[in-house]
Amino acid sequence: MSIADNIYDLHKCRVLRVYDMTDEEKLFLLRFENSETAESWTFSPGQFVQVALPGIGEIPISICSSPMRRGFFEMCIKKVGKVTDIVHTLHPGDFMGIRGPYGNGFPMAEFEDSDILLIAAGIGMVPLRSVFLYATDNRWKFGNITVINSARYGKNLLFRKELEAMRDIAEAENINIIQTVTRDPEWKGRTGRAQEHIADANTDPKNSYVVVCGPPQAYRSIFDTLIQQGYDPRNIYVTLERRMKCGVGKCGHCIAGSSTHLKYICLDGPVFGYYDIISTPGLI
Ligand SMILES: Cc1cc2nc3c(=O)[nH]c(=O)nc-3n(C[C@H](O)[C@H](O)[C@H](O)COP(=O)(O)OP(=O)(O)OC[C@H]3O[C@@H](n4cnc5c(N)ncnc54)[C@H](O)[C@@H]3O)c2cc1C
Ligand code: FES
Repeated sequence: MSIADNIYDLHKCRVLRVYDMTDEEKLFLLRFENSETAESWTFSPGQFVQVALPGIGEIPISICSSPMRRGFFEMCIKKVGKVTDIVHTLHPGDFMGIRGPYGNGFPMAEFEDSDILLIAAGIGMVPLRSVFLYATDNRWKFGNITVINSARYGKNLLFRKELEAMRDIAEAENINIIQTVTRDPEWKGRTGRAQEHIADANTDPKNSYVVVCGPPQAYRSIFDTLIQQGYDPRNIYVTLERRMKCGVGKCGHCIAGSSTHLKYICLDGPVFGYYDIISTPGLI
């Protein structure tokens, strides 16, 4: 049976490396044990997997690497409870089960020939990193790129060092990296919320796609700023998190909206367009 035939197929993955990103988040580099799966498994930026620890539980986690780098993938996981606490105890050589990829992902083909503005707050940088790496791996397909990475404190800025290390090459390639914090008196760089730096993006509001990910309470103000600055609401996307169980549209745990605008976050999302968000009650 091929991978695509059974949506519940559980793949055994070996942990190759574990990196401490912050006090709360770790980055896991994984490889499929089955070499056929390792070669054929792929995903789109914005999709997620169900991470299964037998006897403990399953959790949805975004894939944060680029689909161009085949054979392995990465996930950045925050320690918040029952399953993530155990995931944080795993070491290189340990195993976890992976189902998926699930969800719709970002319409990367639609983004081609346009500028891309990525706006992340806190752990929102995780799914956006996959978009960013995919766009840099396929640099010739896209226009200018800006990443606005924001957090409360410098120590919470996810992928901060990776982004800093890219800065020189990035400038030569019309990639603008902006990292900003809101509450850190020790921080020497930019301060303020992500939306306060949108005006400094190198992206043309008339020819850009925007992806926003962060706490839903930040969305309204980010949307307002984008629209005020001339970005087309039809080109604004977000990715959402919800409590999930099956991840494949069967259990109903992730449903939002009303009978006329019903959405399964796992199936119709987790990526949604601006107009989905404003027309579906309870989506954010
Ligand atoms: C599509 C999707 C992608 C995700 N990607 C990532 C990712 O890349 N990295 C990452 O660290 N996390 C991600 N999450 C969130 C992750 O799934 C939860 O943190 C995880 O399920 C918590 O499991 P637990 O057993 O450790 O916590 P539990 O013991 O179940 O809960 C601990 C605490 O976390 C809260 N919580 C649990 N799940 C969620 C949730 N989905 N949203 C908000 N609060 C929650 C609970 O209310 C509780 O307060 C994603 C969620 C979704 C739906
Ligand atoms: S998680 Fe089961 S329907 Fe979405």
